[in-house]
Amino acid sequence: MARPTKALINISALQHNYRLAQTLSGAGQAMPIIKANAYGHGAVLVARALSKLAPAFGVACIEEALELRQAGIKQPILLLEGCFTADEIAVAVEHNFWLMIDNQLQLDSILTCNIATPVTVWLKVDTGMHRLGFDADEVESVYRQACSSNNVAEDIIVATHFACADDLSSEATVEQIAVFNSATANITAAKSLANSPGLLGWPEARAEWNRSGFMLYGNSPFSQPQVNGDQLKPVMSLQSAIISLRTVDSGESVGYAASWTAQRQSRVATIAIGYGDGYPRKAPSGTPVYINGQRVPLIGRVSMDMITVDVTDLAEVAIGDTVELWGEHISANEVAGFADTIGYEVMTRMPLRVPRIGVE
Ligand SMILES: Cc1ncc(COP(=O)(O)O)c(C=O)c1O
Repeated sequence: MARPTKALINISALQHNYRLAQTLSGAGQAMPIIKANAYGHGAVLVARALSKLAPAFGVACIEEALELRQAGIKQPILLLEGCFTADEIAVAVEHNFWLMIDNQLQLDSILTCNIATPVTVWLKVDTGMHRLGFDADEVESVYRQACSSNNVAEDIIVATHFACADDLSSEATVEQIAVFNSATANITAAKSLANSPGLLGWPEARAEWNRSGFMLYGNSPFSQPQVNGDQLKPVMSLQSAIISLRTVDSGESVGYAASWTAQRQSRVATIAIGYGDGYPRKAPSGTPVYINGQRVPLIGRVSMDMITVDVTDLAEVAIGDTVELWGEHISANEVAGFADTIGYEVMTRMPLRVPRIGVE
């Protein structure tokens, strides 16, 4: 009998979310961002599921891109942080990886390297996030340098990244778009501004390329209802099962540090999932868990391999019953909120010991 802990990956929901990204991209293209093991969903699984739909993929580094190539993914793959060392450039050329260029050092490495085939580059503009990218007033000259090099393919893309696009009331995104438009006004290259919240919530950010990660996995990046974000369908259903049941008297405590004490005689179910599976240790008593059509509260500390829940109010409950930690009935965002983090983090932190299983 196998441990019942698993992440079911709903392929049709993933494709639905990608099609929404395509629709919102209009005449532009939607690039699935599948770094960090596709935000925990399984990069190869996700890339294969989108391989007939997506024109290119985006990842964080060359190791992630090579994993996709080895799995037979044929599309160009953008390295969102470009090359970390100059010896990666030849590997990138060999495998048709596209390179983000964030600074002069990276650009110089490309301009001076010895490659037979030109490489496609994306020039990153720092429009206010102040993490990566050329200053806005440098971009035109950087673009000209890239254009004049035989090592750089003709189809250069200029890009930026938003700091606050998930906050629909923030002026920061409007300002970033204005800085970007002004910095690139004399550049004829294709443009790329939007991440998921940019694509969903900021029509003026949509351009030739739109880089969507989080939205593909079916959680909205917004904390309030939003017309496009609300159409997303959850892709991951994180499941396990009840492995033990007991009754504890009022006044008895449960779990490490005895942090939860029964206020009445209570039925306690132990579930085979813990922080060793990516379930956040900081999830407090009261975090919802879905069993037999009902939400029940987590009680006590999250252990490495187990959690305990109060199932006193369930009409029927038995060892072996399936438990959903997040998915269709409870969103990863909601669990993350209880644990004082974000949906991005809880999904991405799921370790390899949880099998990802694609389901139609
Ligand atoms: C440069 C860049 N583009 C796009 C994305 C995708 O962002 P999101 O997951 O919000 O769609 C990321 C993610 O961090 C990123 O770093």
